[in-house]
Amino acid sequence: MAPMFVPGPVDVAPEVLQAQAHAMLPHRSKDFEAMFRRTEEKLRQVFFTQYRVFQATSSGSGMQEAGIRNFAQETVLSCVNGAFAERWYKVAVGNGKQADKLEVPWGQVILPDMLAGALKKKFYEVVTIVHNETSTGAENPIKDLAAVVHEVSPDTLVLVDAVSSLGGVKVEMDAWGIDFLLTSSQKCMALPPGISFAGTNDRALKKAESVANRGWYFDLLLMEKHRLKDSTPMTPAMALIFALDCQLDRILSEGLDNRFARHQAMADRTQKWAIEQGMEPLAPAGYRSKTVSTIQNSRGMDISALNKFLLERGMRIANGYGDLKDKTFRIAHMGEIQMTDVDKLLVLMEEFLAK
Ligand SMILES: Cc1ncc(COP(=O)(O)O)c(C=O)c1O
Repeated sequence: MAPMFVPGPVDVAPEVLQAQAHAMLPHRSKDFEAMFRRTEEKLRQVFFTQYRVFQATSSGSGMQEAGIRNFAQETVLSCVNGAFAERWYKVAVGNGKQADKLEVPWGQVILPDMLAGALKKKFYEVVTIVHNETSTGAENPIKDLAAVVHEVSPDTLVLVDAVSSLGGVKVEMDAWGIDFLLTSSQKCMALPPGISFAGTNDRALKKAESVANRGWYFDLLLMEKHRLKDSTPMTPAMALIFALDCQLDRILSEGLDNRFARHQAMADRTQKWAIEQGMEPLAPAGYRSKTVSTIQNSRGMDISALNKFLLERGMRIANGYGDLKDKTFRIAHMGEIQMTDVDKLLVLMEEFLAK
């Protein structure tokens, strides 16, 4: 199958797709429990955590909701620099929280000084930050942002959405002091959509004990009770967990460092090519995504025509997101995409530009 340079759902390896065809098991069985335990042990390596990684039958947005419902009784500060950060803010408002925004224009990033300033003005129970803003291709400096939260407001929990980076970019949950780190299956993890994962440390779970109205489906304390028995409170998405078990073996056998280096190299190659073609990435240098290069369409390409041209040759890229449609275009290089695929795409794009 030809590679899709879109930021999810991404291509899934044939053997991972095939793993879903395994015969179902009762989820209250030793066989399922052994698989569930195995997947969690492997997930902990990808999350760089000694704590726990919850698995939910939902896409990543469900885990955004879990973070809000479990860790904030009232106050939330949402760092907003794009569509998915804005969504997390809306999730907070929709759940009745007093949410404030720390906002910069799309394409820009939140800098540690800005966050320090907001935290000095008011106490917030949680801060929400999107690591890799898929709508703009900007990568927030999560390590430094988490450090500033711990320094200025040590009781504030750090909630991070790494939906379009985790598994392709190193995010060291424990070392950087991230309390809750969520991702979806269908991006750098290169699985079909439908499940999501959230690393959660002890301090965050302790806080959840004091939060009322956590709901039921996303109550992390209930999930924890079952996780300790290697299971889930409700019927899990069994076929996807078979796929997860298989894909985590593939990820770990590639080697995490090799995987991160592959994503970085594909980003460098794509962004250098764009600049050579006279088109700058949207995000400032030093803060450009390693998984979804978002390029300003300064040569005025017809993006729909470009995609038609690419589709005839078995590939596709993504248009800009929302208001950035046609003003930018996005080349996602995540999951199973290889440098040789990127090379082929860029040759075709040059052919299109020359027309
Ligand atoms: C950064 C980011 N956060 C959250 C989401 C929402 O994830 P999902 O579609 O898995 O609910 C997306 C989806 O593209 C995303 O890119």
